Amino acid sequence: MTARNTIDDPHTGKRVFVTGGAGYIGTHTLVQLLSERHSVCVFDNYSNSSPQSLERVRRLVNHDFDQVEGDIRDEAKLTRVLGEFNPDIVIHFAGLKSVGEANLFPVKYYEHNVQGTIALLKAMDAAKCKRIVFSSSATVYGAAKYLPYDENHPLAPENAYGRTKYHIEGMLGDWVKAGGDASAVLLRYFNPVGAHESGLIGEDPNDVPNNLMPFISQVAIGRRDVLGIFGNDYDTRDGTGERDYIHVVDLAAAHLAAVGYACAHTGCEAINVGTGTGVTVLEMVAAFEKASGRKVAYRVTGRREGDVATSVADATKALRLLGWTARLGIDEMCASTWKWQSKNPQGYVQRGKAA
Ligand code: NAD
Ligand code: UFG
Repeated sequence: MTARNTIDDPHTGKRVFVTGGAGYIGTHTLVQLLSERHSVCVFDNYSNSSPQSLERVRRLVNHDFDQVEGDIRDEAKLTRVLGEFNPDIVIHFAGLKSVGEANLFPVKYYEHNVQGTIALLKAMDAAKCKRIVFSSSATVYGAAKYLPYDENHPLAPENAYGRTKYHIEGMLGDWVKAGGDASAVLLRYFNPVGAHESGLIGEDPNDVPNNLMPFISQVAIGRRDVLGIFGNDYDTRDGTGERDYIHVVDLAAAHLAAVGYACAHTGCEAINVGTGTGVTVLEMVAAFEKASGRKVAYRVTGRREGDVATSVADATKALRLLGWTARLGIDEMCASTWKWQSKNPQGYVQRGKAA
């Protein structure tokens, strides 16, 4: 990327348009954006969230923000709202994220994720907004040719969800090239977990959780009986899958650093967001039991199709380009998840009543 001089202080006072801002990672990022005095407009269709999460953000910070209900596939609405808000930059969280569902309904995933991003880029062009931070995923790498994954690792996603991210990354690269002084930061998240220390916002999956941490916490709170551990015969310390879990508060901070970077540079950069440290399933269960004081019953089942033994980030590029590094470890991840889960046993909505 090359330096640009158009924005005096790239880190403060920006107008930030946030798609999918009512979701898990979006709400945690909003708290930090608002605390840093950025002006925010959230655009979300609440397909996997609810406006309640945004009310919680308002309770946490002393700054209000705009909020528009809308679908990113609705180009006309996006164009109107972006034109009115006139953002300096877009953070693009909105999308569907279930690996299993994507394999069953790939066209739906391409429609929301890829077509939705095309509509967003057209609306950004109309509004002359040339900077974007995009939620990508470590899943774009596919099976490890070497570990840890660095950003030069070949891209070979093994599921339809990962392929939507792969195609969006390519499209953003082309958009930046054509745009002259445009910029895109593609954040490749490893495994986001944890919650805000207040316990007011957190991950609130619909139905049965697909991911390890929300499943563990629902077993601990008594919503589910037993955790299924997907295989204990991997080539890892204890045979269970090893992942690079990243605290969502650290991940949110990476977005703020990426906003600053994108406002000060042109070009397209893919950047891993992880800690560089792997934690196995059994280690996570033990850490959660310690943090919660509850027993987490588990049973080892067969391997889940498509799972890899180990996924760990080389996170040095984030430090080099963004000045960002993870600060919070597995104990904080488990303690904050437990605080959120125990204060909100049913998530944002308590049996039909707004929490
Ligand atoms: P989330 O489901 O909690 O948040 C996504 C938000 O986007 C939700 O509020 C949802 O209502 C909204 N949304 C979905 N489709 C939309 C559409 N067509 N129009 C408008 N709004 C729409 O998910 P999250 O965990 O916060 O993830 C945010 C982003 O990060 C996603 O793009 C996801 O693919 C990516 N990501 C997440 C993880 C993870 O493990 N959580 C890992 C890697 C990448
Ligand atoms: N696991 C279990 N039992 C469960 C759920 C998970 O044993 O009930 C194990 C998995 O086998 C794996 C580990 O816990 O070893 C983590 O699994 P997750 O489903 O929590 O996370 P993944 O690494 O499979 O995938 C996640 C997101 C993807 C994203 C990827 C990389 O779900 O969307 O991280 O960012 F692409």
